[in-house]
Amino acid sequence: MNIKGQHYRTIWEKNERTIQIIDQRALPHQLVIEDLNSYQAAAIAIKEMHVRGAPLIGATAAYGMYLACLEAMEDNFDIFIKKAKTTLEATRPTAVNLFYGINAVFEAISKGISKKEKTQLALKAARQVTEESVLQCEAIGQHGLEIIKEISAKKNGERVNILTHCNAGWLACIDYGTATAPMYAAHDAGIDIHIWVDETRPRNQGARITAFEFQEHGIPHTVIVDNLGGHLMQHGLVDLVIVGSDRTTRTGDVANKIGTYLKALAAFDNQVPFYAALPETTFDWSISDGLKEIPIEERGSDEVKYIQGWNGNSIEKVLLTPKESPALNYGFDVTPAKYITGLITEKGVCEANEASIKEMYFSE
Ligand code: MRU
Repeated sequence: MNIKGQHYRTIWEKNERTIQIIDQRALPHQLVIEDLNSYQAAAIAIKEMHVRGAPLIGATAAYGMYLACLEAMEDNFDIFIKKAKTTLEATRPTAVNLFYGINAVFEAISKGISKKEKTQLALKAARQVTEESVLQCEAIGQHGLEIIKEISAKKNGERVNILTHCNAGWLACIDYGTATAPMYAAHDAGIDIHIWVDETRPRNQGARITAFEFQEHGIPHTVIVDNLGGHLMQHGLVDLVIVGSDRTTRTGDVANKIGTYLKALAAFDNQVPFYAALPETTFDWSISDGLKEIPIEERGSDEVKYIQGWNGNSIEKVLLTPKESPALNYGFDVTPAKYITGLITEKGVCEANEASIKEMYFSE
């Protein structure tokens, strides 16, 4: 997608030793490009959320494994790679894409004989993880577009109001986004849409990043506090909710940014269709009970206690709470499948239940 008219992806190869990313901590106020030259730098970028969003976490981890191969040349290659794998795996626990990206490259490496061949295979696999995400998001956009088209037709072309939470946009992926891909597709197809953007405390990915994306693409949007969604739904001001997913069970439970569950409850109570848009890489096929089996990340309390913004000259962080007040910061919650109208995937739209998901992915 574009920033100031120039096309960007969120991660790319500067040269064969350097991977570049957009440091999302500075958005929307500054566009900071960061070089990653080691797997340790990739691990820090994921853990400290220079990059974030499930598909981008996976791609960064995949490139991190490739960088580890370059660093391992002078070392015991296999031991070094295993250490890099363990470090990358320990960065963030919830988005299953992290493990998908790491394993895709690790398996590719294991097929090589020489260090050089292993490194080449690692690069090829990291590129594959990245390109695959772009294609998946584009396809999600086309399938989700049909849902928006239908609502628009029912409203005789009147504006369709869509609510989204956090940032499941192109900045959370490589391009297009998951939840936002149908919105970009609908806007580009000339459908009149408007997006309610949840600010998404504590790190404000909605207010900072989703709003930035829509502003750059010219999509009408309004930033709202996280608690407004229910009220808007009660008053008929939301036609559709689309969110992303960090981990999806084979039964259709979805873990996404903290607060997603409350939006699903409000949507359910007000008969507002609630969709999760997600690629195959967010499925954890080994689990069936999201509440019991999805590991939920707990982050530092300072993210709740402090708030960051632009003071006119620079980005500043200020204390919000009494200095000594404790704060609790779970990053994700699980929305049980029963509250989800459907899953928008790269294969099409299915119901959030095991049979429907199975049919979508595993039938000929
Ligand atoms: O903590 P984050 O910013 O990595 O969380 C991101 C989200 O929860 C997104 O909604 C999610 O990754 C969905 S997919 C693009």
